[in-house]
Amino acid sequence: MIEVNQIKKVYKDGNFALKGVSFKIDKKITSIIGQNGAGKTTLIRILSTQLLPSSGKASINGYDVVKNPYKVREITVSIPQEARPMLWYNSIDLVRMYLCARGMNMIKAKPVAEAAIKRVGLWDSRYKLAGDLSGGQKRKILVAMALASDADVIFLDEPTTGLDPLSRIEVWSAIKAIKGQVILTTHYMEEAQALSDDVIMMEKGKVISQGSVGELLKSFYGLVRVESKRRIKGRTSYKVGNTWISYVEKKKAESFVLKDDIIKPISLDDIFIKKGVNLES
Ligand SMILES: Nc1ncnc2c1ncn2[C@@H]1O[C@H](COP(=O)(O)OP(=O)(O)OP(=O)(O)O)[C@@H](O)[C@H]1O
Ligand SMILES: [Mg+2]
Repeated sequence: MIEVNQIKKVYKDGNFALKGVSFKIDKKITSIIGQNGAGKTTLIRILSTQLLPSSGKASINGYDVVKNPYKVREITVSIPQEARPMLWYNSIDLVRMYLCARGMNMIKAKPVAEAAIKRVGLWDSRYKLAGDLSGGQKRKILVAMALASDADVIFLDEPTTGLDPLSRIEVWSAIKAIKGQVILTTHYMEEAQALSDDVIMMEKGKVISQGSVGELLKSFYGLVRVESKRRIKGRTSYKVGNTWISYVEKKKAESFVLKDDIIKPISLDDIFIKKGVNLES
């Protein structure tokens, strides 16, 4: 269980990155989503004891992240956004060394590391040095480390950025296989939808909503999104760039649209649009 209570963070240069964030996470997989600069990484760094909050409280399984950082580190794993494995070892050795650093004995660590490397789809290149692997394959080694650990809580900051579609699905399946609670950040709405029991949406240092994908999309039930050059009269519409986004009843959609309009199913993107946030493509 992760409890966050009124966490604020002001960086040294005066940047107010978190403006009083509160939530509880008790579900198995939770995604934190939000635009660039929303405060996701700042929050993950505070929860994984790499950064001190300016004020507020947070705890992981009852352990305060400021007062009890060593205990928190024992029960958590954090894969940072910019992390890369050491380049001059192979993937099995990297996972094995990581497990040993966490206190597992060398002999026991071998089969555990091998199973994790298999699970993320790196078995065929297990003896290659990490430096000779692609960016996506390097990322998979880090996910294998989290998978192999017996941590209660795993933080993954953008675990699938830069991965091809197949690798992404492999990593999703590895994430689902993690035994502990997982908190991940992502810019891919379909990833949040496919993986999470709960989604936390952040915007400019604040949490703007939390719930299951179903709960968050409840107000869009029975609707589809129409992307058009014109506003559809009588329907809720938002302007994003040069496009009008309107919501119309699924059953009537065909009667509303013109030749170049695009009809799309509702996704988590629509919550940002409804909140009036300008989406980046
Ligand atoms: N070390 C730092 N010093 C000063 N400001 C920082 C620092 N790190 C982040 N910030 C600022 O804090 C805010 C939140 O940044 P953060 O990295 O937490 O966002 P994010 O949601 O993870 O974004 P992204 O999706 O781009 O990874 C931004 O305005 C950023 O410029
Ligand atoms: Mg980030």
